[in-house]
Amino acid sequence: MTIIDNTSAVPAPRADDGNSAPLLEVRDLHVEFHTRDGVARAVNGVNYTVDAGETLAVLGESGSGKSVTAQAIMGILDMPPGRIPQGEILFRGQDMLKMSAEDRRKIRGSKIAMIFQDALSSLNPVLTVGYQLGEMFRVHEGLSKKEAKAKAIELMDQVKIPAAAARVNDYPHQFSGGMRQRIMIAMALALEPDLIIADEPTTALDVTVQAQVMDLLAELQREYHMGLILITHDLGVVADVADKIAVMYAGRIVETAPVHELYKRPAHPYTRGLLDSIPRLDQKGQELYAIQGLPPNLLKIPTGCAFNPRCPKAQDICRTDTPPLYDVTERDGGALPGRRSACHFWKEQIHG
Ligand SMILES: Nc1ncnc2c1ncn2[C@@H]1O[C@H](COP(=O)(O)OP(=O)(O)OP(=O)(O)O)[C@@H](O)[C@H]1O
Ligand code: SF4
Ligand SMILES: [Mg+2]
Repeated sequence: MTIIDNTSAVPAPRADDGNSAPLLEVRDLHVEFHTRDGVARAVNGVNYTVDAGETLAVLGESGSGKSVTAQAIMGILDMPPGRIPQGEILFRGQDMLKMSAEDRRKIRGSKIAMIFQDALSSLNPVLTVGYQLGEMFRVHEGLSKKEAKAKAIELMDQVKIPAAAARVNDYPHQFSGGMRQRIMIAMALALEPDLIIADEPTTALDVTVQAQVMDLLAELQREYHMGLILITHDLGVVADVADKIAVMYAGRIVETAPVHELYKRPAHPYTRGLLDSIPRLDQKGQELYAIQGLPPNLLKIPTGCAFNPRCPKAQDICRTDTPPLYDVTERDGGALPGRRSACHFWKEQIHG
C-alpha cells in the first residue's frame, strides 16, 4: 500500500500522471498566524491540484482553513500576522512563493481571479458598475472610455444581466444580491483568467438564486476551459458542478475523491458526518444529523488525528498517531485514482 504523508515535505504525486504541469498545484502548504495567545496553525500541509477545465470543490466546516489556503494562493497573506513557513504554490509548474514580486503580481493580476462571498463590500458604492467593469480594460488594455463601456456591456450580457446596456450606468446598490454576484463574476472574467477561485460565492444569496449563480459560474468555466476552485461548506451545491472534492479539517486535507464517488462511498468518518448532515427532501421532518462537538482550537490541535475527540470511530491509535493521507483502493487492492483518506480505518469506512 502506498502511503502519502501529508505532514512531510514530500509532494503528493499527480493524479493524472501526465507530463505537463497542472495549472495549479499546492504542495505541503503551511500557514500560521502569530497572535497574542500563541501560534494559530491554520493550514498544516495542504496538497491539491487543479487542471484547466477542472473544478475542485474545497469543503469543510468554518475555520478549517479553506479561505486561508485561497488567500495564500492569491498572495494576500504573506505579511504579518500571517506567515507561510513551508510549502509551494506552483502555477504552471512555477513556484509563486519564489518569484519576484513583479512576476507574482502579473500572474495574480490577470491569470488568477477571485470571487468573494460579499459582492457589496467588494464593489465601490460610489462608482457605476459600468465604470468599475470598464476600469479593467482602461487600466490593463489602454482602451478609451467609450470602448471600455462597450466591453462592460458585453461582459454584463455574458453573465446574463438583463438589459445590460440600460443598466451599465447603475450603481451597485441598485442591483439585487444575485445580480451583484453576477457583476463580480464579470469582473473576474474580464481579463480572461486561467483560474478562478470562488470563496463561498453564493452563500449570501437566496436558495433559488444560489443555483442560478452556481450554474452560470459552471457554464462560463466550461466555456472558457478555466480551472475553478470552489470553496464551500455546503455539500449540496457541489454535486452538479465539481469534478473532484477535497475535504478539509483543522488545516489538513482529510479526504479527496472524484465528486460522485465521495457521495456514494466516503472513506473518512468526517466526510460521512458532513454527508449525513445534508437536509434531504425524502426525509422531511426528521431531525438532522449533526457532527458532535466543535472544530479544534488551532492554537492547540489535538495530537494524533485532529478529528479524534469528535469521531464516533476513534480508537487508541487515533489519539497518538497522526494518520497520513492513505491511497484508498478497492477491497481487492484495485486502484481508485484520486481517492485518498487521512483515516487509520479507511478500509472499514469505505468497505464496511
Ligand atoms: N488574520 C488572521 N489572524 C489570525 N487568525 C486568522 C487570520 N485569518 C484567519 N485566521 C484563522 O485561520 C483559521 C482558518 O480560517 P479560514 O478563514 O481559512 O476558515 P474557512 O475554512 O474559510 O472558514 P469559513 O467556512 O468560516 O469561511 C481560522 O481559525 C481563523 O480564525
Ligand atoms: S483516524 Fe481515528 S479519529 Fe481519525 S477519523 Fe479515522 S477513526 Fe476517526
Ligand atoms: Mg472562508
